[in-house]
Amino acid sequence: MFLIFQMYVLLLVLGVVSPTMTLDNGLALTPPMGWLTWQRYRCKVDCNTYPDDCISEQLIRRTADIMAEEGYLEAGYNYIAIDDCWLEKQRSPDGKLVADRDRFPHGMKQLAKYVHHRGLKFGIYEDYGNTTCALYPGVMGHEQTDVDTLLGWDVDYIKLDGCAATPDDMKTGYPEFGKMLNASGRPVLYSCSWPAYLEDASIMPDYGAIAEHCNLWRNWDDIDDSWASVSKIMNWFGDNQQRIQQYAGPGHWNDPDMLVIGNYGLSLDQARAQMAVWAVLAAPLLMSADLARMRPEFKEILLNRDIIAVNQDSLGKQGLRVSMKAKQHVWTRELSGDSYAVAIVNHIEGGPPQFSSLTFSEMAVPARSYTVQDLYHEEEDWILFANQNFTTRVNPTGVKFYQFVPLPSEERTRKSNINLNVQNELDRKYVVEIVI
Ligand code: GLA
Repeated sequence: MFLIFQMYVLLLVLGVVSPTMTLDNGLALTPPMGWLTWQRYRCKVDCNTYPDDCISEQLIRRTADIMAEEGYLEAGYNYIAIDDCWLEKQRSPDGKLVADRDRFPHGMKQLAKYVHHRGLKFGIYEDYGNTTCALYPGVMGHEQTDVDTLLGWDVDYIKLDGCAATPDDMKTGYPEFGKMLNASGRPVLYSCSWPAYLEDASIMPDYGAIAEHCNLWRNWDDIDDSWASVSKIMNWFGDNQQRIQQYAGPGHWNDPDMLVIGNYGLSLDQARAQMAVWAVLAAPLLMSADLARMRPEFKEILLNRDIIAVNQDSLGKQGLRVSMKAKQHVWTRELSGDSYAVAIVNHIEGGPPQFSSLTFSEMAVPARSYTVQDLYHEEEDWILFANQNFTTRVNPTGVKFYQFVPLPSEERTRKSNINLNVQNELDRKYVVEIVI
């Protein structure tokens, strides 16, 4: 027995075995942020017909330039990743993955170099099965070769999909692949689609094991560029929160899929609602839109610093859907410093904005006095006292998103002498004026 222990210590020292068998890469201490090709560009490979929209090095370079120059990187979006459809259909004669020669003529290593030179990190997609979902070569049977190839290209982020793999394959494959990444010594963000395939087949995922091996994981369906899709995903996360919320935290996150903000399918209100709920969910913020054609009002949502700060809050606690009343869904996230982020999403389509009156318990916020900050900056800051109901108005298929910051106790005493019943924005302004 002692001899075995001595040999283990020797192998540890020689670096032949790793002391930890789980993912321990120090990454994603807050939810990852970046840009991914899939939702916007899908599997467009015909660069003659779609020169600006095809999956190519030109698309990645153009997007990297914009991210670096137009405030995205500065706001925290630091990963740029290629999803499916970047490969040649055949491996090389020595069994290696090859990037499409026409669309990536300078190869992936060069592209990674360019991305790094722009201050970004480089991500790529593969699939654990025999093929990717779009039928390009998958990693099964070539795991170590592919890890060596991808890491040899200086990849920083791998999204490993699960098409063409069985639940049993995935159970061993995802952890094994993660260990190979870990053993390489290069910190690689590891995104697993593992639970999405199990949930789809009504098999209960072992989220404990998933959180041990992956930095982020797709839980459920692919997102589309529509409110129907975005609200369906919100509802799934609300309906299943008791099973999944506790697995999110620094280093490991549930992933409701990409931000579709800035494309064609969401109104401004709906885009704001997606950003707000993704912030409450501590979701990875992976944009998938044409940044070269991003309209300023959508860019403003994506770059909203206050909302990004909620998403990136250091407590790392995923928020919950805490009440549903007359199709007004309230999402609350506890933040560091005893603050709370509260998003009220109105799921009624059409008609006028809905008035909403909520108790502290309906918002799952401790009853005390707060400065209320509108994270979309339409309202001035106002004060909510512990004995009041919270009132607001929310546009159809829109959101109101607030941060509740506790008032310091001495101010609370002074201000609680002012016993006003705040009913509307006019009164709120009045209260702020007389107490400040
Ligand atoms: C699956 C994934 C998507 C995308 C495609 C690529 O559907 O869930 O996010 O990666 O495959 O083919």
